[in-house]
Amino acid sequence: MDPVYHIPVLLHEVLDGLAIKPDGVYVDCTFGGGGHSKAILEKLGASGKLLAFDQDADAKRNLPNDERIVFVPHNFRHLQRFLRLNGVQSVDGIMADLGVSSHQFDEADRGFSTRFEGDMDMRMDQRQELTAFNVVNNYSEQQLHKMFEQYGEVTNSKTLAKTIVSARKSVSLKTISHFKMALQSVVKGNPHKYFAQVFQALRIEVNDELGALKELLEQSPSVLKKGGRLAIISFHSLEDRLVKNYFKRGAFEEIESHPFENNPVQHQLIPVTKKPVLPGKEECKMNPRAGSAKLRVAEKL
Ligand SMILES: C[S@@+](CC[C@H](N)C(=O)[O-])C[C@H]1O[C@@H](n2cnc3c(N)ncnc32)[C@H](O)[C@@H]1O
Repeated sequence: MDPVYHIPVLLHEVLDGLAIKPDGVYVDCTFGGGGHSKAILEKLGASGKLLAFDQDADAKRNLPNDERIVFVPHNFRHLQRFLRLNGVQSVDGIMADLGVSSHQFDEADRGFSTRFEGDMDMRMDQRQELTAFNVVNNYSEQQLHKMFEQYGEVTNSKTLAKTIVSARKSVSLKTISHFKMALQSVVKGNPHKYFAQVFQALRIEVNDELGALKELLEQSPSVLKKGGRLAIISFHSLEDRLVKNYFKRGAFEEIESHPFENNPVQHQLIPVTKKPVLPGKEECKMNPRAGSAKLRVAEKL
């Protein structure tokens, strides 16, 4: 495990939540630096198995030399398909530690960080075509407005979208410095915070982070054994809301109850954590990234 690559968040809490059986089969949907995977492997016996997904080819370099782990270099939205391809019908536990790794943030040329110069890229999976540049260069004003409002909670998202559409007619928005320069006049409040929100929205869009999470949640009950656990660490309210609602009622939105409709959603998961598990003060001090983490755990009925 490379500590510079990424420090695992809520490590002990995830292990507790998964209640690992030594001979069980587990899935780490977000291998990254391999911190959670390594800890899972330590709890597994010789017959245990771990399938580790990561759509970023860089993560593969962190693979331990251990025949119990199989690396799946794909998006976890294809969970069911790749388990089947690896001859796995059902599993005892699944975990996901959502978002990007410190490594991805710290590599300037990946384009995730507002601190560095690089292309407006932001793809976790370099095989995909859509980049942040494609989004700011091709999306309509209305699409950009909605995206910055919903995914970044940018207060002046309408003005921001309008400015991008007007700026791209005369200047290239290909690099981070060009993009930030073109938006100087619309920055509200602290520029660092403002661009962090703008970049968060773009990153969520480029990687379809909420779409992938929804597919993972929908497929998990079908691959989990009875009593199997699903542990998800999220880092912003949009993700946490999806996880919370799905764990509670098997749907992503609040369901209105219609007195004359007798069509309840089949409930296959039960939350193990009534409230999200948060990192302690000590962890937040050691790893500021942990500050916004929330862990929820559910069990398959
Ligand atoms: C927060 S890091 C995980 C860190 C890891 N738990 C550790 O201890 O080092 C998230 C990782 O998951 C990957 N990732 C995020 N979303 C993904 C998805 N939908 N499919 C596959 N991998 C994904 C990212 O490329 C990144 O490497």
